[in-house]
Amino acid sequence: MVVRGSLRKNVRILLLGDRGVGKTSLILSLVSEEFPEDVPFRAEEITIPPDVTPEMVPTHIVDYSAQEQTEDQLLEEVRRAHVICLVYSVDDERTLLRITTHWLPLLRDAIPHSRCPIILVGNKVDLTNEDDSTLSAAQEIMEEFPEIESFVECSAKSLRNISEMFYFAQKSVLHPTAPIYVAEKTD
Ligand code: GTP
Ligand code: MG
Repeated sequence: MVVRGSLRKNVRILLLGDRGVGKTSLILSLVSEEFPEDVPFRAEEITIPPDVTPEMVPTHIVDYSAQEQTEDQLLEEVRRAHVICLVYSVDDERTLLRITTHWLPLLRDAIPHSRCPIILVGNKVDLTNEDDSTLSAAQEIMEEFPEIESFVECSAKSLRNISEMFYFAQKSVLHPTAPIYVAEKTD
C-alpha cells in the first residue's frame, strides 16, 4: 500500500550552518516578527502550537551553535531532527562552499540512508541585489545532493521569506515528495 503524506504528529526542525550565517536571528525573527539586533549564540528550543502553524501540527524549532555545543550534541540533535534547514549567508561565498565541503558530507555520515529532508537556506538577501542570486549555485548543489528538498533565499532582517522557509520545512516532513511504503500485513 502506498500512503501519501506522513503520519507524524509533530515536526522537529533543526537549523545548521556556519557561525554567523544567521540561524538564531532567523528563529527569533520568525517568533517575534521583527529582526532582533542582539541575539544569544543559541536560541532556546521553541515550540509553536498547532493552531498557529499552517499545517496545524505542533512544531519544535531547534537552534545549533558551535560556540555552546559539542560535536556529540550536534550529532544527537541531527538524529532527532525530522528536517534540517542548512543555512548559509548569500553575502559570504565561504559559507556556501562549506555546505558542500562540510555540512552535507557530515549529514550523510551522521544519518546514512536517512530520509531526513534538507532545506537549503540562503540568508541575508537584504545585503545583495537580485543579480547576485545564489540560485544557480544552489541548483547545482541540489543536483548533486538529492536529499535537499527545496531551496529558499530569505532575510532575517527584512523578514523576507521567513515564514515560507519554516513552512517548506514543515511541508517536507508532513508531505514528503518520495512516497512512504507501508508493508501490507500478510497474516
Ligand atoms: P552562531 O550562533 O555563532 O553559529 O551564528 P548564527 O548563525 O546564529 O548567526 P546570528 O543569528 O548570531 O547572526 C550573526 C550576525 O548576522 C548578527 O550580527 C546578525 O545581526 C546578522 N544577521 C543575521 N541575519 C541577517 C540578515 O538577514 N541580514 C543581515 N543584514 N544581517 C543578518
Ligand atoms: Mg546562533
